[in-house]
Amino acid sequence: MPLFKKINHQDRATVFVWKIEEELKELSEYTVLRDVSAKRLNNMKSKIHQKGFMSIRQLLILAGYTDNDLFYNGDGKPHLTDGKCISITHSFEYAAIVISEENVGIDIEKKREKIIRIADKFCNDKELLYVNSQEIEKRVENTTLIWCAKESVFKMCNTRGLSFKDHIYVDLDRYNNKEGEAIVSRGSLQKRFEYFSCDLGSFMMTYSFAK
Ligand SMILES: CC(C)(COP(=O)(O)OP(=O)(O)OC[C@H]1O[C@@H](n2cnc3c(N)ncnc32)[C@H](O)[C@@H]1OP(=O)(O)O)[C@@H](O)C(=O)NCCC(=O)NCCS
Repeated sequence: MPLFKKINHQDRATVFVWKIEEELKELSEYTVLRDVSAKRLNNMKSKIHQKGFMSIRQLLILAGYTDNDLFYNGDGKPHLTDGKCISITHSFEYAAIVISEENVGIDIEKKREKIIRIADKFCNDKELLYVNSQEIEKRVENTTLIWCAKESVFKMCNTRGLSFKDHIYVDLDRYNNKEGEAIVSRGSLQKRFEYFSCDLGSFMMTYSFAK
């Protein structure tokens, strides 16, 4: 499928989502990769990862860019050569980018029951109390949302060693509106973010901005 969803978020950012239904060959047609990208692609062991990587290049084209316009810092954070901000995610059959004049983060995760078993690794006590009181389906959904929100915020922070459990707090109180606040707190690093979620059926997507 070509573009699955495009969100123009309040003139602040554009989110492009690709649903990956093509074979790798089709996704690679007419796409010129820089040497470093071609090398990365060839070194990927999983076909799913390769398809995610190439779907991102398709989304770049839709956004008016090519692989040539994308580069990474030493920690793997992507940047665009024209100075705009970009964040990237790919998970199984979905890939997405968000582009903005301001710092942004995005994440997609599959909703899976097994997330409940590892929730205490990335949720603090308050978040756990909130999700543990819920019916199983809601619990999976909200735990996945917490994960996604933390990943999207993490991608904005450019800070090594941030712990999802100890340093990033997600406020789910406004979740019915599909948006909320996340706070990063570690020593002198104190930042507030807002996240927006988008339900993709069996997947959850969130994207974030600084407040
Ligand atoms: C690097 C990390 C952010 C990637 O997230 P992910 O959910 O595994 O994978 P996604 O597909 O959503 O994102 C991958 C993209 O993130 C981007 N990325 C990688 N490192 C990044 C960084 N330091 N900052 C911002 N973006 C980054 C890249 O664009 C990458 O895709 P690409 O290399 O194909 O362009 C994640 O693995 C990570 O390190 N998380 C923090 C570690 C942690 O604390 N985990 C949980 C503990 S319980």
